[in-house]
Amino acid sequence: MKKITIVGTGHVGLVTGVTLAEIGNQVVCYDINEKYIAQMKQGISPFYEPDLNDLLQKNLTKGQLFFTNDPKLALEAAEIIYIAVGTPTAENGSVDLNYIEAAAKTIAENITKQEIIVVTKSTVPIGTNNLIKQLIETNLTYEVNVNIVSNPEFLREGSAIYDTFSADRIVIGSDCKKAASIIEEIHRPFGRTIYLTDLLSAEMIKYSSNAFLATKISFINEIANLCEKVGANIEEVAQGMGLDVRIGTQFLNAGIGFGGSCFPKDTRGLIQKATEVGQSLEVLEAVIKVNKQQKYLLMNKAKQRLGNFKNKKIALLGLAFKPNTNDVRESIAIEIASELTMQGAMVIAYDPLALEEAKQTLGKKIHYASSLEEAITDTDMVFIATDWDEFKDFPLEKYEMLMNQPIIFDGRNCYSLDRISEYNIEYYSVGRPFK
Ligand code: UGA
Repeated sequence: MKKITIVGTGHVGLVTGVTLAEIGNQVVCYDINEKYIAQMKQGISPFYEPDLNDLLQKNLTKGQLFFTNDPKLALEAAEIIYIAVGTPTAENGSVDLNYIEAAAKTIAENITKQEIIVVTKSTVPIGTNNLIKQLIETNLTYEVNVNIVSNPEFLREGSAIYDTFSADRIVIGSDCKKAASIIEEIHRPFGRTIYLTDLLSAEMIKYSSNAFLATKISFINEIANLCEKVGANIEEVAQGMGLDVRIGTQFLNAGIGFGGSCFPKDTRGLIQKATEVGQSLEVLEAVIKVNKQQKYLLMNKAKQRLGNFKNKKIALLGLAFKPNTNDVRESIAIEIASELTMQGAMVIAYDPLALEEAKQTLGKKIHYASSLEEAITDTDMVFIATDWDEFKDFPLEKYEMLMNQPIIFDGRNCYSLDRISEYNIEYYSVGRPFK
């Protein structure tokens, strides 16, 4: 059992804190956001993540987990500190390190132990861990030996708890063997493969993994577009390709592209780093370009079908960037909603979890429905932007019954062509023959 302090309790920080407590550590989670800290002290996560509230409450009750916004309380006795603050995109497109720098300074000003290990969980540009070490060392009030470890996270929103306990690998990067082996020890109870490496390589592994997964998506989306032209079915193609273990079936779901707070930011971030050191990343440039184009293809098809969007009543199903989350950051659904309204459509959107979050971005530009039935009633077209199970399980006859004319543009291939062919629905999807 180790005493661990987590700085930053967003998605990554809170999941890290709760899961480290669950495997037996004593964890203090620190954040500057008083409202969130108060909420978490009551056992309520400020964001939705399956199973998180249960584990949070369990470990609070067991006394394994504490929350505070007092930096002294969180850090003065700390020997192992995880940094998990946000690294958003700055206005100029680079990665904004303000929160990282603030965290490093807070750590430096409050630690009192002679030797500490700082573990970076946040996704930071290659080389940032050395900067964190420097920043802490230059702001110290006592003499402290600071060791840095990079322990990037590979969890997906919507399945973060599951991903933590069934991780394919845990990457631990450090130039200090002793620090690496202490962090390895902490992670051993997860029972997953641990991969030890140096600091810079760990940072590269994180970015390259996200870039590779994004590449798979843009690749399959281009192949989907070709399938449409030649009459093949992308689902059959992706399955047939993926059975080759060298390729694998995951992340080959064609659709309207990737969004969220990670792939768009991290692909741009890696290109920015490459540019800084005089290297071009042409494959990744193409991945981003394909992703930008992909979100408009299905919408353009819909426009062709309806003539134009002016005064058309369109139901938009899904606002979150993916299912099982209420996160709308860089969500393609949000961009589609804006574009449709700009072109004169009246958009009625429904999402099982992300309505409130979407309202903060889209405001009164669109209408919000409190159920799928309400959203599609008397509409001229349905556009599916997120593959929620609720949409997949929806009885298809209701589209026939409730819409003005049952036309569906499905950006996430939610329905099988066999199933849809039993209904009188005009159905367009991505990379599959028109039904
Ligand atoms: C991603 C990675 O999958 C995680 O391993 C990583 O830890 C995380 O970023 C991060 O860096 O923090 P996340 O962004 O939560 O996780 O979600 P994903 O499940 O990867 O989905 C990203 C986007 O790709 C979504 O918009 C999703 O709809 C899209 N996607 C995903 C596809 O279009 N097709 C696919 O086959 C898979």
